[in-house]
Amino acid sequence: MSVLAIDAGTTGVTALVVSEDGRIESRGYEEFAQHFPRPGWVEHVPEEIWQATLAACRTALDGAATPPRCVGITNQRETAVLWDRTTLAAPRRAIVWQDRRSAGVCERLREHEPRVAELTGLRLDPYFTGTKLAWLAENDPRAWNAGNLAIGTVDSYLIARLTNGERHVTDPSNASRTLLYDITRGAWSPELCDLFGVPENALPELVPNYGEIGRTSPEAFLGLDLPISGVAGDQQAALFGQTCFSPGDVKCTYGTGSFILVNTGDEIVRSAAGLLTTVAWQAPSGAMTYALEGAVFVTGAAVQWLRDGLGVIQSAAETEAVARTVPDSGGVVFVPALTGLGAPYWDPDARGTILGITRGTMRAHLVRATLEAIAFEVRDIVETMDLPVPVLKADGGASANDLLMQLQADQIGTPVERPVVRETTALGAAFLAGLGAGVWSSQEELRATWRLDRRFEPGPDDGAAYALWKKAVDRARDWAS
Ligand code: G3P
Repeated sequence: MSVLAIDAGTTGVTALVVSEDGRIESRGYEEFAQHFPRPGWVEHVPEEIWQATLAACRTALDGAATPPRCVGITNQRETAVLWDRTTLAAPRRAIVWQDRRSAGVCERLREHEPRVAELTGLRLDPYFTGTKLAWLAENDPRAWNAGNLAIGTVDSYLIARLTNGERHVTDPSNASRTLLYDITRGAWSPELCDLFGVPENALPELVPNYGEIGRTSPEAFLGLDLPISGVAGDQQAALFGQTCFSPGDVKCTYGTGSFILVNTGDEIVRSAAGLLTTVAWQAPSGAMTYALEGAVFVTGAAVQWLRDGLGVIQSAAETEAVARTVPDSGGVVFVPALTGLGAPYWDPDARGTILGITRGTMRAHLVRATLEAIAFEVRDIVETMDLPVPVLKADGGASANDLLMQLQADQIGTPVERPVVRETTALGAAFLAGLGAGVWSSQEELRATWRLDRRFEPGPDDGAAYALWKKAVDRARDWAS
């Protein structure tokens, strides 16, 4: 028995076939285009996300030893997608979570922020779906007023495509990122729909994170008729995939951005210091698990920019070897605020800043400064959490980088543990789907599949580099206002 997990991330779609003992049998990956029509804007073509999903799944299924019993989905969160319920065609590109165009909407609604935060656990920031939808309603009436409009995040869109339009659903982990969902009641909030001008009847139906969610349509999805039995936003899925089931368990996923989540159990814990309160998952019984989250927008994306924007490296994998050619960054500090700053600063007007360049600065210093920046950004969150963090479980693409993992342990003064399976986001979707379809029967059974690859113990750190980082962040702030 195996499970097919689809991870529709920001830069591409990964599909994994996961076996009963938690091993990866096969994988597929397909990138899709990123569109940057103006500075600060980021868009995706929904059809391209769907085609990438089909291609990634085809590859994974071709290499699988056993046919999957069910499908799990996880996705980049907050991205706003519109489509037609009947034709499933999208009238325009999706507005991606990184997109800052709704900063003006946030400013206009600022007086409502305390109430918005009380209901949602979030803040008024262009990051979240509701602000993007308000922008669309005002600025793209052609798409917004098209008949038969369905609104959703990438999970809902993919489920609509997988079921050939049969299901328009989302789960609480994704819904809790929209600014339209009341985390205490566990339901869409009519008050917030009103505030952002979103018609509630165009929003998806809410379903728990696992159980029978829908079935794939053979006509739409590679001839397969399978239950879709698990769905979660990618960061909550990674928390699940790391088997962070107990209150106090913490993970950090190093992807396009980095997201640090701590399980807070059935308690809604609020942060005055810039962290987000969010739903981790909801069991079919209705029982909610919550999390506190630190969202850093640009980490892996900074490495991608070194590769695609500057051309100073050929591949992300090269960063470790290049950075190791120098003992330190030579005084260079890079604040990768390429799409503003998320937690704990929340400054959409911050911009990327490189300081401390001299005539002796080489590309290796910049590459090393980029890895250091990722470690500093995560330290910013861990310090803000104000909770004991006995160990940080790391995953995601950049967790393969031993130098980064060591820098991270040094910066937070806490051991960092990396599991054998680093694609924890997709693994979490597989776990949820497998629980929902009876492949696994308990969280204990899942916990038994978690295997340690390597533990990084913290070394000495005099705090000087971090102090310089804090100074550089101040310089990066408020630049575009
Ligand atoms: O909140 C945004 C997050 O879901 C994106 O994740 O892995 O695509 O960087 P990722």
